[in-house]
Amino acid sequence: MAETVLELRGVRKRYGGGASPLVEVLHGIDLTLVAGDFVALVGPSGSGKSTLLNLVGLLETPSEGEIWLASEPVHHASDAARTALRNRYLGFVFQFHHLLPAFTAEENVLMPVLAGHGRISPADRERARALLARTGLAAHAHKRPLQLSGGQQQRVAIVRALMNRPRLVLADEPTGNLDSHTAHDVFALLRELNREEGIAFLIVTHDPALAARCDRQVHLQDGRLLPPARADAPGG
Ligand SMILES: Nc1ncnc2c1ncn2[C@@H]1O[C@H](COP(=O)(O)OP(=O)(O)OP(=O)(O)O)[C@@H](O)[C@H]1O
Ligand SMILES: [Mg+2]
Repeated sequence: MAETVLELRGVRKRYGGGASPLVEVLHGIDLTLVAGDFVALVGPSGSGKSTLLNLVGLLETPSEGEIWLASEPVHHASDAARTALRNRYLGFVFQFHHLLPAFTAEENVLMPVLAGHGRISPADRERARALLARTGLAAHAHKRPLQLSGGQQQRVAIVRALMNRPRLVLADEPTGNLDSHTAHDVFALLRELNREEGIAFLIVTHDPALAARCDRQVHLQDGRLLPPARADAPGG
């Protein structure tokens, strides 16, 4: 059986309190991802997708419930431990790539290595170049973000997310600001990297065609996960 990379048990998230009213936006989420999973997280605007991703990404803490990464409970981790866990287990791809404009594509890709290990080894540089070549960016490694197209910038951001060999990549609308042709190319790249490196992906997308290309779709509605749709259900 594939190894569990992520487990959420009864996760709730509330905002506010004090002067502002307390609002619960996630009402008890249970979710498991195993190694190599390729999962779409879908749901209407405001349903809690980004909140869920931010909790899994250790950018926020749950109000109740448990979050496990691999076999480590992380819901009570200190700030320092969370930073270390993020570097060890997770990669992030956002709708807007957040590449550093003053640095080349290759330097941007190497940033997480520098942040995680404090230095860059020749092997790291080789992996960066190989991944950039793998994603069709060999000729662009020494360009800065503004000299690249939107799709190329997003591919650099994807390579950056993979540098530290994460177990799980969290992607919040990774193709949200790309035209549909480029979006499909970028999505196909995520899929290939998922298969080649065995990395699990949890991908928020509003595009039903892209969601349909995932192994599994999980639907959030008003802060709750809907039961999985069954292929053999009547009328479905
Ligand atoms: N920091 C915050 N403080 C208070 N409420 C918040 C906060 N962050 C999110 N919310 C609320 O939580 C709910 C879920 O927001 P979230 O951003 O997770 O939705 P989403 O599914 O990602 O939506 P979209 O598809 O528009 O990106 C919304 O009602 C939002 O207003
Ligand atoms: Mg969102």
